[in-house]
Amino acid sequence: MSDFKLTTPTQEPDLDTAMKVIYQWNYDPEVEELRRLYVKATEAQWIAERDVDWERPIDKLKFAATPLGAAVPIEQCSYWKSLKEETRWELTRRAASFRLSNFLHGEQGALMVAAQLVNAVPHTDAKFYAATQTMDEARHVDVFAKYIKKLDEVRPIAPALRNILDATLQTENWMKKLVGMQIVVEGLALYSFREMRNLTEEPLLKDLLTYVARDESRHHAYGVQYIERCVPCLSDAEREELEDFALEAARSLIDQRTQQTFQTAIMAIWAEVIDPVELFTCLQNERDELTRNQKKGRRLGPVQGFVIPTLRRCGLLSERVAKQYHEFLKANLSGNLVGDTVEEFLQHIPDLPEDTAAWVLGQLQ
Ligand SMILES: [Fe+2]
Ligand SMILES: [Fe+2]
Repeated sequence: MSDFKLTTPTQEPDLDTAMKVIYQWNYDPEVEELRRLYVKATEAQWIAERDVDWERPIDKLKFAATPLGAAVPIEQCSYWKSLKEETRWELTRRAASFRLSNFLHGEQGALMVAAQLVNAVPHTDAKFYAATQTMDEARHVDVFAKYIKKLDEVRPIAPALRNILDATLQTENWMKKLVGMQIVVEGLALYSFREMRNLTEEPLLKDLLTYVARDESRHHAYGVQYIERCVPCLSDAEREELEDFALEAARSLIDQRTQQTFQTAIMAIWAEVIDPVELFTCLQNERDELTRNQKKGRRLGPVQGFVIPTLRRCGLLSERVAKQYHEFLKANLSGNLVGDTVEEFLQHIPDLPEDTAAWVLGQLQ
């Protein structure tokens, strides 16, 4: 007897989503840059089983030496240093599995949105491209799941990420799907993959992130090239609606309350191994010293450093919405990077890298 079943204990109840399907009878190239991107994507396909050496065990020493990437460098505090090497490995492993699990769940969301885009976008070139992205995202789900299996266990999705994925899947407006997924979620993902890839020396993780980040830079390019064509065709009201959708998505991801739930989730995972109160107390006592040695350089977060520059490039950063970004970033981020006025805030926003693929692989600074 087969144990195949129609429902499994790991699946969620159905989520009602909206999507309009559009047939397009013109098959000739129409949006040349998207057709080129589609060709490039077909040429750049890779095979997870063949191209990545999965036989390698995770290099524990190199993995544990990877900075955790927190605002305060936890790995430099005296409590952390006093822990046994084995305990530090446990903590690093668990925190990383939480982050990687959220990458994994985000990839599943991207897989489903990309598949929706095949149906919902009106241009053939854009449908073709979304089809290649659907394949890419399936591969990303596959490789992150494989890596996490070697490392630890899959942890649940963070509520803020779940909300954005739901909103993007549920809207019937295909441009909102594009903005929510290709610009906000993929923008954040690209920034995080880049950061993790450039910080880690663990060979298997570095390999995997290199492959994934190359694909993601193409997905981002698709969003930018398509949306910047669309925006000038919109009425003011339609453009504002799109701007607000992006704002809400970005806002929910960097809201302080959300950040706290991220930290709380990691602390809860760590509490299985150490007493988090001791760690907290130590961090508080040594906070000044720990942050003094941090690079004074401008470390813009993913929203200010990448998502907002992308929106500006796409024509979705009007004065009206820039004011709102400034206000909520100021309320949520400390330091002088946000600027006191909207003008200062806009001055700090970098240009989008010319070559996103080179930027994401650390070949550009
Ligand atoms: Fe992906
Ligand atoms: Fe993607």
